[in-house]
Formats: sequence, structure tokens, C-alpha cells
Amino acid sequence: MPPDPHPWASRLESLHAEVWTRLIRGVHDRRAAARHPTLATVALDGSPQARTVVLRAADRASATLRVYTDAQSAKMDELQAHPHAALHVWDSGAHLQIRLAARVSVRTGDEVAGLWAQLPEAARLSFGCTPASGQPIPDALAYRKVPDPAVFAVLELRLQAMDIVHLGPQHRRARYARADGWAGVWCAP
Ligand SMILES: Cc1cc2nc3c(=O)[nH]c(=O)nc-3n(C[C@H](O)[C@H](O)[C@H](O)COP(=O)(O)O)c2cc1C
Repeated sequence: MPPDPHPWASRLESLHAEVWTRLIRGVHDRRAAARHPTLATVALDGSPQARTVVLRAADRASATLRVYTDAQSAKMDELQAHPHAALHVWDSGAHLQIRLAARVSVRTGDEVAGLWAQLPEAARLSFGCTPASGQPIPDALAYRKVPDPAVFAVLELRLQAMDIVHLGPQHRRARYARADGWAGVWCAP
């Protein structure tokens, strides 16, 4: 029998640890799958909304993630009305589907001035647009990018639950919850 390429998938604890390894890699490695998760929120009319974001921080000890956004984007109103989000990653190298449920806190202004100061000039261009993100414009390029710390927002995602699927010779699925200290349970895939 060939060696198992993913021995970590056979135990709840090591599977959980591997998920965090992959998330943290996303923060530091532009080519990692978790670099660009899909962030889903609930729109004001109750419909789902999903979009690609960049994962900016991941901390296993507190089970929190961080995403930056433009405070004028639609997701801000959505998060104010319904401060919950789901984050999705398909990491094909690890054969892992990662689905995360989080409570979201939005931080702006002085609270995030230090993070703004650390952003390279090119990255700041993503925060500040005239007219504001999502507004109709008469022509595809009828907008200006104006970096503006006043519209720089940090989304702090406090994870509540993780649903992990590993596709191996035998598929495995596990659920982990903050409520039970991330001990995890196996589920039918
Ligand atoms: C590769 C990629 C990375 C992106 N990263 C971010 C990001 O980190 N934060 C963000 O708010 N939007 C990011 N966007 C843009 C969003 O996908 C989305 O278009 C924008 O935030 C407006 O979404 P909303 O109208 O639902 O708020 C990214 C888009 C792409 C294609």
C-alpha cells in the first residue's frame, strides 16, 4: 500500500491542526488556497451574498480571522444588520473543504490606524473609491481610486464553528465548535 499522503486527516485533533496550518499559510503565502477565501454574508433582503476576499490574519489561540474591506461597500450594511458570516476555502493540495461560521465585529478609524499605516501604498488603493463601491457609473472606468483611511474597515471574524471535509480514498467530515473547545465530532460526509 502507498503511504497515506494525509495522515493528519485520520484524527480529529490533527485534522483541526492542519486546517489552522492551511489558514495561517493563506495569510503569508499569496499562492496558498486560503489566501483568497469566499466570504458570505446575508443581504438586507435575506438573500446570500458571496465574494472573494484576502485573508489578512489568522490566530488559532483565539480562533479569529481578519479581513480588510472598504467601509462604503455593501457588505458593511449587511454585517451591521446581521453580524454573521461564512468563509469558504477549497484547498485542492490538501483535498480539504473548509467552511467556517463566524460572528463579525467591524473596526474602523483610530482602532485600525496602526494596520492602515502598515499597508503598502498599492494595497491602500483598494480602500476608497469615488463614487462609492457598488454605485452605478455611466462608463466602466468612470471612477477614481483615492486611498482613504476613513473608509478602511477591518472585519474581525470570531469563529463559532468549522465544518471540514477531507476527500481521500475514504472521505471524512468533521465538525468543530467553539462551544465545546474545538474538540470536534465526526459526521457522515
Ligand atoms: C482576488 C480578489 C481579492 C479581493 N479581496 C478583497 C478584500 O480583501 N476585501 C474586500 O472587501 N473585497 C475584496 N475583493 C472584492 C470583493 O470580491 C467584492 O467585489 C467587493 O468587496 C464588493 O463586495 P460587496 O459589494 O459585496 O460588499 C476582492 C476581489 C478579488 C477578485
